[in-house]
Amino acid sequence: MNILLLGSGGREHSIAWAVAQNPACDNLMAAPGNAGISKIAKCANLDIADGDAVAGFCKGNAVDFVIIGPEGPLAAGVADRLRDAGISVFGPSASAARLESSKRFAKEICQIANAPTARYAHFNDRDAAREHVQNEAIPIVVKADGLAAGKGVVVANTVSEALAAIDDIFDGRFGDAGSEVVIEEFMTGQEASFFVICDGTNALPLGSAQDHKRVGEGDIGPNTGGMGAYSPAPAVTEDVSRKVMEEIVNPTLKVMHDRGTPYQGVLYAGLMIESGDPRLVEYNVRFGDPECQVLMMRLGAQALDLMHAVAEGRLNETRVNWADDHALTVVMAAKGYPGSYGKGSVIRGLKKCPEDNFNMVFHAGTKEENGKTVAYGGRVLNLTGRGSTLREAAARAYALAEHINWAEGFHRNDIGWRALGR
Ligand code: AMP
Ligand code: GLY
Repeated sequence: MNILLLGSGGREHSIAWAVAQNPACDNLMAAPGNAGISKIAKCANLDIADGDAVAGFCKGNAVDFVIIGPEGPLAAGVADRLRDAGISVFGPSASAARLESSKRFAKEICQIANAPTARYAHFNDRDAAREHVQNEAIPIVVKADGLAAGKGVVVANTVSEALAAIDDIFDGRFGDAGSEVVIEEFMTGQEASFFVICDGTNALPLGSAQDHKRVGEGDIGPNTGGMGAYSPAPAVTEDVSRKVMEEIVNPTLKVMHDRGTPYQGVLYAGLMIESGDPRLVEYNVRFGDPECQVLMMRLGAQALDLMHAVAEGRLNETRVNWADDHALTVVMAAKGYPGSYGKGSVIRGLKKCPEDNFNMVFHAGTKEENGKTVAYGGRVLNLTGRGSTLREAAARAYALAEHINWAEGFHRNDIGWRALGR
């Protein structure tokens, strides 16, 4: 199979790493890729949100199967364009991707599906939204409706914070994402990420993970894209997993199917679990980053078989073979992230890192320049370990950090602390 992978993050490096191990992968291409991906795939410069450009590349390079990593191309309809051209693709249609690209849409689907989630109201009008929050309990959650790269959500602890968040959204701080606001009840509990693959009709749970969204140790400070993750998530017990499938995921997928927008791809359910009962925080229509890195580390080569079965609608013939293992990843980010940070610093020591099924450094914001690996993003490396216990996985991930010599970077030293303390 000739395979094209779209994306350039740690998520996509881990997918490339897993896919390349599968004998069914004859030739792996990626766009745009990064320094890590370029070691296992041929990287092409391509506007991945342009369906015609991607379809043209596929024709020119005899691509049989496309894996779409990030939400941008999905929301832009790249999967639709490829399917129309007869190309097999892993990733939902633009209509199905609205589960992530419109928070209001996701809420409406949950309502029809009777899936447990926070109570909500939505507004296109600033004054109506401002009036609403004055009458609601605090804390309250204010969300821009559309894609805002994870930055469109404010958990407001006071009414004035909520009002400021509403103003930010209607003042256009999130561009197109800001013409509408969703205001939600604040849920308490433990957060976890739950992943399901679906071929439009059949669904298989793919596993759970927990990520650390805050930049600082002890889970404090500003939100980031994720500073580390581990899988499985202890909060997602077998009973919780069954409830998530029965009460949230399956009813959602049925509604999506029945309304003529069947869901094909990976569905990422962000959960809040309290007293063993899961509620949905949000849906994403892609793998989480860095959650994907720990899932791929555990799945290995079978990830390709699963994704291809999704694309071909034969998930009913497939199963996920889980080992009784754990994986943990530590993000190395550029100093300053998630605020402003420098670019162009050289990362040394990568060659000393072992690369096998227990230890991997997945690249995110890296480039190869004159034979050197250079940082050019906020989140730059994902030091990933696998082991028979979470402690072993964590030890491997942190041992990788010992090899890396990059003064302009930082990482958290406490990834997995809650689960490790259990
Ligand atoms: P989202 O982008 O919707 O996942 O929101 C980002 C983060 O905000 C989540 O990971 C939660 O920590 C928090 N959050 C979002 N919605 C709620 C809610 N209704 N109750 C409590 N926390 C929430
Ligand atoms: N790590 C959170 C996300 O990918 O949305």
